[in-house]
Amino acid sequence: MIELKDIKKIYQLGHNKIEALGGVSLKINRGEMLAVMGPSGSGKSTLLHILGCLDLPESGQYLLEDTDITNLSDKELSRIRNEHFGFVFQAYNLLPELKAWENVALPMVINHVKKAERKERAVALLHKVGLKERLNHFPNQLSGGEQQRVAIARALANDPDLILGDEPTGNLSTVQSDEILEMLCQLNEEGVTVVLVTHDSNVGAKAKRLVTLQDGLLVRDVPIEKRHSAEYITTLLQAAN
Ligand SMILES: Nc1ncnc2c1ncn2[C@@H]1O[C@H](COP(=O)(O)OP(=O)(O)OP(=O)(O)O)[C@@H](O)[C@H]1O
Ligand SMILES: [Mg+2]
Repeated sequence: MIELKDIKKIYQLGHNKIEALGGVSLKINRGEMLAVMGPSGSGKSTLLHILGCLDLPESGQYLLEDTDITNLSDKELSRIRNEHFGFVFQAYNLLPELKAWENVALPMVINHVKKAERKERAVALLHKVGLKERLNHFPNQLSGGEQQRVAIARALANDPDLILGDEPTGNLSTVQSDEILEMLCQLNEEGVTVVLVTHDSNVGAKAKRLVTLQDGLLVRDVPIEKRHSAEYITTLLQAAN
């Protein structure tokens, strides 16, 4: 589905150049559930942004199916983001002036879905994430876990192939975090490919594959099995340091 070849990303801050990714190659197949872990500053968010076509690399190749996305215009990139990807961030990023269902419907506006159909689908998605009683609530009237569920419903609005999460459980309590994780696992069971950037070994343990970054390089890529615990993931991470 996705193939990254020798991806480099350099940030220029004044006279300083920071190499956030120093040549990362990675293949992601349809149906995978992948956790990306590693120390703070190792390039995880940078990698996720590039995977989600929110940012372009300095060099390297990014093949989505057979299209090299590094050659596309901004307009084509935003079409690809809209059609293929759903994003879930740590800070939910809901629009405060929109009700829950309107937040979920927003990506469909961009995709030119008809108004009646937008509402119907937004309501159905909020049912799916267990929020049928919260359709007309504004974000500040919802708990953190509920806001993240709205964000997941919004990520599903255009029926994405791939969900990209950057610390999606980072702001949540253990109980809420488990619920969100359960939901993401369920979506993966339904065939959606999931990539999660996380510091949380519990999240890592739910994935089927663990990729570890260090100093902008991919230093480990291993399968995770159901029998593996969060402690096992922690041990793996420590071994990388
Ligand atoms: N917009 C930017 N401008 C300049 N440097 C940046 C920018 N974004 C990230 N960096 C630098 O690139 C490196 C990788 O950052 P990145 O955000 O990908 O790390 P991360 O692994 O997600 O860290 P964390 O776990 O703390 O979120 C860091 O050294 C960071 O300081
Ligand atoms: Mg980050």
